[in-house]
Order: sequence, then C-alpha cells, then structure tokens
Amino acid sequence: MSKTILVTGGAGFIGSNYCRYVLQHHPDYRVIVLDALTYAGNLSTLADIQQSVDRTDRFRFYPGRIQDETVVNGLLRSERVDYIVNCAAESHNDRSLLEPGSFIQTDVYGVFILLDAAKRHGIERILHVSTDEVYGTADTGRFTEQSPLAPNTPYAASKAGGELQARAHRVAYGTPVLVTRCGNNFGPYQYPEKLLPFFITRLIDRKKVPLYGTGEQVRDWIFVMDHCSGIDFVLHHGTPGEVYNIGADCERTNLEVTHRLLQLLDRPETLIRPIPDPRGAAHDRRYSVDASRLRSLGWRPTHPFDTALEQTVRWYVEHQTWWREIVARPDYQAFLQRFYGPYLGEDL
Ligand SMILES: NC(=O)c1ccc[n+]([C@@H]2O[C@H](COP(=O)([O-])OP(=O)(O)OC[C@H]3O[C@@H](n4cnc5c(N)ncnc54)[C@H](O)[C@@H]3O)[C@@H](O)[C@H]2O)c1
Repeated sequence: MSKTILVTGGAGFIGSNYCRYVLQHHPDYRVIVLDALTYAGNLSTLADIQQSVDRTDRFRFYPGRIQDETVVNGLLRSERVDYIVNCAAESHNDRSLLEPGSFIQTDVYGVFILLDAAKRHGIERILHVSTDEVYGTADTGRFTEQSPLAPNTPYAASKAGGELQARAHRVAYGTPVLVTRCGNNFGPYQYPEKLLPFFITRLIDRKKVPLYGTGEQVRDWIFVMDHCSGIDFVLHHGTPGEVYNIGADCERTNLEVTHRLLQLLDRPETLIRPIPDPRGAAHDRRYSVDASRLRSLGWRPTHPFDTALEQTVRWYVEHQTWWREIVARPDYQAFLQRFYGPYLGEDL
C-alpha cells in the first residue's frame, strides 16, 4: 500500500541513504525530506535522488529545523504523512565537547517537537534513530536493549535525552514511537569529519591521518545500507514503544581499520600520525551491539565489512567532486585548524 514517509535530516549521511533505500525498495512510497542544511547537510547529497525522480511526485524537499514547531506542524498540515523517520541530529561527538548547546536543541528539544507533532497529526508511526553511544562503554560483554543508559559525551547524553522523550511520549500519550540504536556507520555521502571518510579523503591526497592515542578503541561497524534496512524493518515490523539494537557483529579497532584503508589505497604506514586523544576520559573504549532481538524477528545485515569498505573507498575515489566541494569550504578548513592544527601544522 502506498505510504508517505517524512525523513527528517534527509540531506545528511544516514537520512539520504535511507531515502535511497525507500525509493528503491518501496516503488509506491513517497519521500519528503525536512532538513535544516547545517554544515553536515548538503543538497548535493540529494542530487542523484532529485534526478532519478525527476518529473514524478515521489520526492520533495523542505528546508527547516525540527525544533521549529511552526515549520513542522505547517508541513504536516500541508502534506499527508503516514510515517516519520527522524535522522536529523547534531551528530559529531568531538564538536559536542566544544558546543553542546546545539546538540541539546536538536537532539532533545527537536525530538520532543516531532513527537508532539506526530501525536497532534495522528501519524501512524514515528521512528527515532538513536545510537549505541547512549550505553557508554562496553568494557566487557555486549549492549542489549536492557543495558543501562550511561552516556559519556554531551552528544551521547543528548541522544539519550531524545530517547527518554520518546519513551515518555509513548507512556503518557500513547504516541506510536519506535527507537533504534545502531553502531558506527560507514558508506557513501558521509560528511568527511567522521573517522572513515576523513581518513579516506586524506589518504587519497596522500596526507597524514591523525589517529587518537594508540587507536585501540573498538567500534562495532555497519555498512550504512544495512542500517537503513534495519530502520525500515523496525518501521514496518517493530512494536511501538520498543527499542531495537541494529548491528552487524563487526568489532574492529580504529588502528585495524586505518591499516585496512592504507592497504586499499596503497599508502605507507608513515602516514599515520598518532595525536593526543581530545576526548580523554570521555572516549568510550569499546562499543559492542547485540542485535539478536532484531535478528530473531527476521532482519539480517547483508554487506560483509571487507567488501563494503572496499566499495566505500571506491565511492570516495570516484566522487571527488562531492567531497572536495565540502573540504574546500571555510567552515571545514576552520574545523581542521581547530581540531588538528596544533598536531598537523603544515601537513594539514
Ligand atoms: N553516523 C553514524 O555512525 C551513526 C551511528 C548510529 C546512529 N547515528 C544517528 O543517526 C542519525 C543521523 O546521523 P548522520 O551520521 O546521518 O548525521 P549527519 O550529521 O550526516 O546528518 C544530520 C542531518 O541532520 C540535519 N540537521 C541537523 N540539525 C537539524 C535540525 N535541527 N533540524 C533539521 N535537520 C537538522 C543536518 O543538516 C544533516 O543533514 C543521528 O541521529 C545519529 O545520532 C549515526
């Protein structure tokens, strides 16, 4: 049956890939994007979608912030929306240590505005995309949906705050909200400040890659399209009020991943530049997502890490116009200076 999905944050990494997933897997669905186009959101990220749905009414873009009640309610009055998938967020941990205010605005207050609008407009289901970082660090064992929330950065705490708004909305008003918690994503269209695209784009240019500490932090990696299939599965088959982990059982240290990138791009080890870890005690040592609950319902990741990583590296090699335009911007250069300038100096 035909449905309309509002994807908030659809001009970002996961949101845009989720739009692609929906348009491909549900030929009778419409997708509407609401995105504030912050530094991390780009219309160029949606250009291929705009082209592929040209002259059809399957895709529409609205600029605006999720915490703007007037914009959100105006959109839901003018469009018939069945589902909301919230991918809008301030999403960069390191930035949250320096400027936590915008994280609380978007990741907590914005989620509350969306939930309230979903209730008011009788939205069938709203899915809030969250993160395994709400669990804090997993020194032993794996995170299950029952693990306590123990966030260690302002970003993770804001995401946990958004989730608690979702939980309370469900209990207090019966809002049909579902929450997903996923590990570290990689794939096409990821803003090049996050570890993988940051390193890939620098290595393409034969520049040094700044690795925090000894790189022994363990992350549980997943290809973005597997995350998107998980979101879509939960949206259609999950139970409102419930939380679902999404993961691909793929723990790797940052150092291991960096070595693999050097191999794939045929670059020397000397390009690794260890630097002091700016997160200090707030840098979670290990993430490990137990997604057995979602697997027991029938969902499976289908992209093995090695082939998906190779495919991702190839994508950045073949789509240099996309990321070079971002990297050349003054705000990106300012980010590089601020975070890495003291360590990389002329190598920046
Ligand atoms: N990237 C990962 O590895 C990962 C892993 C697990 C969970 N998540 C979660 O997935 C979601 C999406 O992450 P991402 O990596 O795509 O982030 P991203 O930074 O690439 O994209 C975020 C998008 O949200 C938009 N946005 C920001 N503030 C907004 C606001 N107030 N109103 C409307 N739009 C706004 C931005 O313009 C951008 O397009 C986040 O909630 C994040 O916590 C990400």
